[in-house]
Amino acid sequence: MTVNEKLIDFIKQSPSSFHAVETIARRLEAEGYISLPECTAWTILPGGKYFVTRNQSSVIAFSVPTAAPRGFMMCASHSDSPTFKIKEHPESESAGMYVKLNTERYGGMLCSTWLDRPLSVAGRVVVKSEGKIQSRTVCVDRDLLLIPNVAIHMMRGANDNMSYNANVDMFPLMGSTAVKGSFKKIIAEAAGVAAEDIIASDLYLYSRTAATVWGAENEFISSPRLDDLQCAFASLEGFLAADAKDSVPVLAVLDNEEVGSQTKQGAASTFLYDVLMRICSALGMEYLPAISCSFLVSADNAHAAHPNHPEFSDANHRPKMNGGIVIKHNANQRYTTDAVSQAIFASICEAADVPVQYFANRSDMAGGSTLGNIANTQVSLNTVDIGLAQLAMHSSYETAGAKDTEHLITALTRFYSSSLNVLADGEYAIE
Ligand code: CO
Repeated sequence: MTVNEKLIDFIKQSPSSFHAVETIARRLEAEGYISLPECTAWTILPGGKYFVTRNQSSVIAFSVPTAAPRGFMMCASHSDSPTFKIKEHPESESAGMYVKLNTERYGGMLCSTWLDRPLSVAGRVVVKSEGKIQSRTVCVDRDLLLIPNVAIHMMRGANDNMSYNANVDMFPLMGSTAVKGSFKKIIAEAAGVAAEDIIASDLYLYSRTAATVWGAENEFISSPRLDDLQCAFASLEGFLAADAKDSVPVLAVLDNEEVGSQTKQGAASTFLYDVLMRICSALGMEYLPAISCSFLVSADNAHAAHPNHPEFSDANHRPKMNGGIVIKHNANQRYTTDAVSQAIFASICEAADVPVQYFANRSDMAGGSTLGNIANTQVSLNTVDIGLAQLAMHSSYETAGAKDTEHLITALTRFYSSSLNVLADGEYAIE
């Protein structure tokens, strides 16, 4: 399989953040990683490989070198994407002939891109089973829903400054009134449980549109959820391919970036801190010196220059798809990159023979945010914000460069194989 085929397969297996974490956990287990439940004491041994999940939607994996480690080489990305969450009582009748589902927005999507395409439902259900309460992933693996546009004849202004009301325009159609009451049964059947055993659920829409590699020279890849599963996939591959000697490589894929990260499993939580503290105490490492000799890569996709609107990019900082890793700058530190973290990460990319390019917003545009600076409020250390250049961020179908996944895997393999020796504040050696 080519790298892009593997990426497409990874995304297909990951229609929700729960599935992304399950897909990563399965891969880690196949590579000999041991699951550490947060509710037990941990035994961590030199040479061991481990992972921890929280809320089934965030995961942190690490491997321990055989020699005493100096610090942590970490990469964080996110498992969630903008979508619509299905409410507790979702079914409602419309026009005396339809059953549609009541949803609310999760994150900041481009609404128009969710219209007129096959959709379905994925997430988790919590079931009562043999006296226990048990969470299980569920994915309805068929075309189940669609949000229809209004015909141009009925809405003449549809091509001019259209606005979308999430409580009116974005509800998906499920069937005729004959199917009233069947949503829960469809979910139960897909989960392999009895409908009456489902106590609660976290269910989201996902796009069924298949990914494709396209363009005159097959230079582009389009798919749902490239932000941020492209970085999650590439960091997993780089993490698994690395040969770490002096530092602990840490892979973090965290939920809820799209809604600000302030959840028990998001980048604003203590999840990363908790795992690092437990590693330190198990290995007899001192936390604070270890953190000062550590580095975090915050990996979340970046905006490529748009073919029809290049003016939206800063004239001197226009990332190019297939142009390699984008190092992101923001004076107000919504991106964590500074001169030191840029120098360290760009040196690693250079050593790995991977091209880098630079992004900054136009000075009159606020731009987006990500998880690096939020993670720094819990674990503070040198951090760089990077991503792969893509078009149509937060569309239900995004486009990126077909060669860039490989660029990121190569760079992160090198990164995870390295360690940071801090000689003084402001003086570093990459070893
Ligand atoms: Co993102």
